[in-house]
Amino acid sequence: MAPLPINRESEQTLFFHNYARLPIAVTHGEGGWLVGDDGTRYLDMIAGIGVNALGYGDKRLAEAISAQAAKLIHASNLFMMQPQFELAEKLLALSGLSKVFFANSGTEAIEAAIKMARKWAGLFGNPYKKEVFSLSNCFHGRTYGAMSLTAKPQYVNGFEPLLAGTGMINFNDINDLEEQVSDNTAAVFVEVVQGEGGIHRISQPFIDRLKELREQYNFLIVADDIQAGCGRTGTFFSYTQVDADPDLVCLAKPLGGGLPLSAVIGSEKVENVLSYGNHGTTFGGNPVACAAGIAMINAIHDDHLMENAKTIGNFINDELQKLGAKHPQILDIRQYGLMIGITVDKEAKYYAGKALEKHVLINATSVNVIRLLPPLTISREEAQHCITTLDEILTEETAAEKSC
Ligand SMILES: Cc1ncc(COP(=O)(O)O)c(C=O)c1O
Repeated sequence: MAPLPINRESEQTLFFHNYARLPIAVTHGEGGWLVGDDGTRYLDMIAGIGVNALGYGDKRLAEAISAQAAKLIHASNLFMMQPQFELAEKLLALSGLSKVFFANSGTEAIEAAIKMARKWAGLFGNPYKKEVFSLSNCFHGRTYGAMSLTAKPQYVNGFEPLLAGTGMINFNDINDLEEQVSDNTAAVFVEVVQGEGGIHRISQPFIDRLKELREQYNFLIVADDIQAGCGRTGTFFSYTQVDADPDLVCLAKPLGGGLPLSAVIGSEKVENVLSYGNHGTTFGGNPVACAAGIAMINAIHDDHLMENAKTIGNFINDELQKLGAKHPQILDIRQYGLMIGITVDKEAKYYAGKALEKHVLINATSVNVIRLLPPLTISREEAQHCITTLDEILTEETAAEKSC
């Protein structure tokens, strides 16, 4: 039987219908550009949803992966493996925290953090100290615990009942925070910069009050740095920018250089929370993914990519402000390094479609927010190309409306 062609029809035949895939089949990438099977080059301002920090085709990453694959692809956590140790050491040095647990995806890191928080809270003899909170508008993942902490109804509806003992505090609402947390609180999960929620940063007064209440009630602060971490916002961890001082930190997305890898990093306070057999995963901390992670972190430092995230991010912001002054369709712009949200006056997917026609990949989130998550390697020319394309799209839209 001949294989099915790679197109929409075959996709509908083969797969559950949970992804709205773009109508292009990609074969490879070059730097900041993705290439379709017809040879079309697309400027990639999404980077595999914030994963491809080094862009495509980084030789150091490919060499680290192939060298490790030639030695050992998998052995499981029954054994000690050098790449896991080296990556764990790096993460502890970067964070100043105490222990690492490796998993495979963002949502698995969140599950592990929920379990750690509840087990830790169990030490204090209060059987009700099980409540786990997140913040409205947040996204933490798709498995049951993480989904129960996720705000968007479309990710949750139909999958109820959710995990008991989870709740949501209004984002940046100090009164609501004070009302909801108590002695029964085990943890509060925060994205310092909300990604899926439309690129919104937590306020300093909210974080400061959260830390005070942690002192009062003895709960954990968990920083979900899955999207905003690994240098994207200009520092390795986004939480350092607001001094969130988390007890647990979740990383994923770029951590494995494109291979599935996530980590939970914990402070001394929680370092003994897990015991043998308590929690685990067959694949988590896979040596090839860890070798890729080491190469990725080295490249971020060697190539000064956090500085690039700041410089090019600021450049994009300046240029977007100019577009905002010119085009009334732009309502607001929020930029933290290379995590950029543009609120527009209609569904952002309209602009994503127009940009695709011009071979630029941008992402729509939170209905009317254009999200840009380019590789940290993006050049000024590539950033300018994206801005010029957006300018063209907005100008053409206005001209078309006038001619109606
Ligand atoms: C902030 C945040 N947390 C958790 C997740 C879930 O990660 P994954 O899709 O790897 O399970 C995501 C994914 O977009 C995310 O952005």
